[in-house]
Amino acid sequence: MAAKKLIVANWKMNKTAKEAASFITDFKKLVFNENPNEIVICPAFICLNESKKLLKGAKISLGAQNMHFEEKGAFTGEISASMIKDAGCKYVILGHSERRNYFSESNELINKKVKTALKNGLKVILCIGESLRQRENSETMNIIQNQIDNCLKTVGGEGIRNVIIAYEPVWAIGTGKNATPEQAEEAHQHIRKILAELYNAIVSKDTRIIYGGSVNADNSKELFSMENIDGALIGGASLDAKSFAKICNY
Ligand code: PGA
Repeated sequence: MAAKKLIVANWKMNKTAKEAASFITDFKKLVFNENPNEIVICPAFICLNESKKLLKGAKISLGAQNMHFEEKGAFTGEISASMIKDAGCKYVILGHSERRNYFSESNELINKKVKTALKNGLKVILCIGESLRQRENSETMNIIQNQIDNCLKTVGGEGIRNVIIAYEPVWAIGTGKNATPEQAEEAHQHIRKILAELYNAIVSKDTRIIYGGSVNADNSKELFSMENIDGALIGGASLDAKSFAKICNY
């Protein structure tokens, strides 16, 4: 179990630049200075530059919520890996279930994005996870296997070192119904097994696997106490500086 947790705020389509600035100002005061955890904030693209300025000198990293797989060109409305890197991002979230479900992102498309992100020196937070129907049909482990196999296709031993896996059961996202620590632990153990088969024992042990889905200040401690849970990807509870700081000050 990694002593240092990776705790990521996914703000989704929330907060204007002014609201993001006010959050960061408050959050910096609330989060312990000697906090051992790695904290990442992923605001909307339009807030990245302002957030970067406000986070200067703080031990808090910046991430983006998505990007295009092409390096540049005629892709109206899209944003590239080098643009988010330039805006201060160290991380990028890819394959979130909202992108998969509302924007028809396939494992194949996500795989292209993963490779472009890694090529541009970004760390990838790759989201995977099953729907409620899939869980009820006992398909969870197969779905996870399929998503990892395809999203990480041709990502080699060097690339995988910059990939974090976020296990986010779709039925737990934004529903207030988090996976139990045991359910999450079981999935994380399975992910380690898949990584050992795809890569090797070192990759399996070293890859950070974080949990997402209705994590809040009341359930985070118990989730973090599990052997294979290396942190959390947090939506709703990351929008309020106090509640997010409470989770981070673990
Ligand atoms: P939630 O979202 O914490 O609001 O469930 C998590 C996520 O979608 O990453």
